[in-house]
Amino acid sequence: MARKLYIRTFGCQMNEYDSDKMADVLREAQGLELTERPDEADVILFNTCSVREKAQERVFHDLGRVRGLKAAKPELIIGVGGCVASQEGAAIVRRAPYVDVVFGPQTLHRLPDLIARRRSTGRPQVDISFPEVEKFDHLPPPRIEGVSAFVSIMEGCSKYCSFCVVPYTRGEEVSRPFDDVLTEVADLTDQGVKEITLLGQNVNAYRGVMSADGGVADLATLLEYLAEFPELERIRYTTSHPKEMTSRLIEAYGKLPKLVSTLHLPVQSGSDRVLAAMKRGYTALEYKAIVRRLRAVRPQLSLTSDFIVAFPGETDKDFEQTMRLVDDVGFDGSFSFIYSPRPGTPAADFPDQVAAAVAQARLARLQAALDAQYWAHSERMIGSAERVLVTGRSARSEGELAGRTEANRVVNFPGAASLVGNYADVRIIAALSHSLRGELAAA
Ligand code: SAM
Ligand code: F3S
Repeated sequence: MARKLYIRTFGCQMNEYDSDKMADVLREAQGLELTERPDEADVILFNTCSVREKAQERVFHDLGRVRGLKAAKPELIIGVGGCVASQEGAAIVRRAPYVDVVFGPQTLHRLPDLIARRRSTGRPQVDISFPEVEKFDHLPPPRIEGVSAFVSIMEGCSKYCSFCVVPYTRGEEVSRPFDDVLTEVADLTDQGVKEITLLGQNVNAYRGVMSADGGVADLATLLEYLAEFPELERIRYTTSHPKEMTSRLIEAYGKLPKLVSTLHLPVQSGSDRVLAAMKRGYTALEYKAIVRRLRAVRPQLSLTSDFIVAFPGETDKDFEQTMRLVDDVGFDGSFSFIYSPRPGTPAADFPDQVAAAVAQARLARLQAALDAQYWAHSERMIGSAERVLVTGRSARSEGELAGRTEANRVVNFPGAASLVGNYADVRIIAALSHSLRGELAAA
């Protein structure tokens, strides 16, 4: 029987992607097959996140739960990867000596080796180094299911926002060479992929070296090349930083119809004072100017964002400015969080941390405003025709299909199973709280 791998993933899309890669690497090197059940696994991995909350504590809590499995199966390998691993390193093994391997986001390709060394030496293995883009060169070719795929094009972040751990846990920005990205996308389209999402912690900071002349391609250039693939119908990218929204990238929305009409552009706050303390590198007015320019070339662009409330020193007035920005811009769904002090980041030592009750109240108000905008947008969609990528059967109603609109809204509609994996034109007939209902539009 094939040996089994269980992975528990916390956090962002980058981590989801990395977990897929861990599974690929271990399938290729050791024939491990994924399982949903930790109790039947031979290798258990936690891919952790430390962006918010007491993530460290959560990891140790979860580790404690699988520890018992090891008593019954001494050869079981327990590994911790991701951002908590990167921050804590060997401290994880000191605190939980039953952990066998600790690896960072940049060393996951070394997993087979780390596991082998753990077995041969009998000692826990820790490797949380940042070996540049070596990782990209050591991954097996992507395996796809369906017609949409993720392509990681850069790693890390060099922005050092005062509240964020990512530059410390994932390292500085490193871009994958331009031609490697094109080759990977060509492989994917050969296998039937029609929709790709370019991934990176700061994907619009992409600067990929081109082998032809040693020049450097930015994201706008990469998008232009990718749009030339006849098989690709939709191109997405996430996450982007307002500071890297160059004129060329904005113009791409006017020139490249395959580039989807939805953009995740984290703003964090509408107060210039708070934005400066966060070290975001733009003002609220500059953010709004970017949005205006984007909408001038792509009027139907739908925007989502990230917000942090109760950043140290945030006053009622600052918060009202965030509410005003939400009103002015009009978002189509967003993530909002209460500021969480992260050890080792500058903001964790800032004075004037905001009281928990105030933070909760601000978050509730902000989320209500964002929800109302999302809902209004859904209602406006009723009667419109949407091109959806049919992803599978509907989880809600039997005999129906589920698809995703360009802006990633779920639509359920009656249709034949043969449509799965294809695009379909669907008329929206009703808006529900987390999805839309539709019917196939006449061909
Ligand atoms: N690259 C993105 C950008 O342009 O800002 C952000 C990536 S970050 C991992 C994802 C989101 O987590 C951020 O946009 C921010 O809203 C949130 N976040 C990061 N650190 C946080 C903290 N200390 N407390 C609360 N939220 C935080
Ligand atoms: Fe974090 Fe700011 Fe980079 S939020 S990921 S340091 S852009």
